[in-house]
Amino acid sequence: MPFRPSANIAELRESATIAVSQRAKALKAQGREVIDLGAGEPDFGTPAPILEAAKRALDEGATRYTAVEGILPLRQAIATQGNASFRGTEAIAATDVVVSCGSKQSLYNACVTLFGPGDEVLVPTPSWTSYYEMVQLARATAVEVHGDPARGFKVDVERLERHATPRTRGLMLNSPSNPTGAVYAPEELRAILDLAATRGWWVISDEIYQRIAYDAPAPGALDVAPRRDNLIVVNGVAKAWAMTGWRVGWTISPPAVAKAMTALQSHTTSNTATVAQYAALAALTLGEPVDATVRAMVAEFKARRDAALPILQASRALTVLPPEGAFYFYLKVPGAGRVPDAGGAFCQELLEKAGVAIVPGSAFRTPDWVRVSYAADKAQVIEAARRIVATADAMA
Ligand SMILES: Cc1ncc(COP(=O)(O)O)c(C=O)c1O
Repeated sequence: MPFRPSANIAELRESATIAVSQRAKALKAQGREVIDLGAGEPDFGTPAPILEAAKRALDEGATRYTAVEGILPLRQAIATQGNASFRGTEAIAATDVVVSCGSKQSLYNACVTLFGPGDEVLVPTPSWTSYYEMVQLARATAVEVHGDPARGFKVDVERLERHATPRTRGLMLNSPSNPTGAVYAPEELRAILDLAATRGWWVISDEIYQRIAYDAPAPGALDVAPRRDNLIVVNGVAKAWAMTGWRVGWTISPPAVAKAMTALQSHTTSNTATVAQYAALAALTLGEPVDATVRAMVAEFKARRDAALPILQASRALTVLPPEGAFYFYLKVPGAGRVPDAGGAFCQELLEKAGVAIVPGSAFRTPDWVRVSYAADKAQVIEAARRIVATADAMA
């Protein structure tokens, strides 16, 4: 029978980050040497004490369903961590936490629960590709709010207000940012949260890269918000603890929202894997043995950034945003403003001629740019930076 996609997914785009990785894999399968800086995944293994805790949990029978919203000790640990930074009025309870299959599901749960047909959601742009699609899957409209490249593409109150209409229902925030690596300062974050509270907008704050910040700690929304009755904080273990494959993310939200998201999740995935929840519990509660490994991973990301940044900045053809967190460089490439998809053309040239896979900025709604992940071996990141500069300078 011929397949015609339903109206639900007719507009859905394939994830561009995955498409590039697939092309790189295909070239590798043909025997080509490719440096793959496309994926947004730490290149480290999960810290050993977490693995040991997970094995123990299996031996002790962590093989059955749990509560849809996750095991109580994990939700308590998440609430405790949230309360350590929240100075506002309503303390966070375990019932405000919903654990899901990665922060991706947490974000999807929040979008579908809060937004619907006719609603507009402000999405600072460039942003991680899935926000636009998730808002659309909720049948709401993602409104791109382009940030100022000179400020790492960060948005401010004035830019958000310019795009607001009576239909605006919410706002996506992501600091440190994928793809730019920009980090909002506490006062910048506070001003945006104040605006959202005044306007009655929901704020979904994706803080998955919060612990990967190099020059100063990255504030989360709970660090600066005086209240949280319009706030959904999203986090997870994937990036900072190198646990992408475990699929554990969570939301901290007002209790009514948590209840609605739990109901939604009860009809889609139920709980995320039981053993993975025990692994996440270990990540959050084992303390120094795990925290020291996380610090070492962040230090290694920083060393790669510091090694590759001056190489990229020496190019006469690239504009480089110095990243303050996450593990991405965002670069404006030759042809910007002249060629319709300058980033896509650059990525293609770089992959086919220089054997380096990166992601076109069109995936993040800024087609003049490209994203380079430095979640890879330092020597490879340095070599890739040299090839990127050589390719860009030759094209300029
Ligand atoms: C900004 C951002 N949010 C969320 C996610 C999803 O992470 P998880 O593995 O927890 O679903 C990613 C993964 O690339 C991301 O870059």
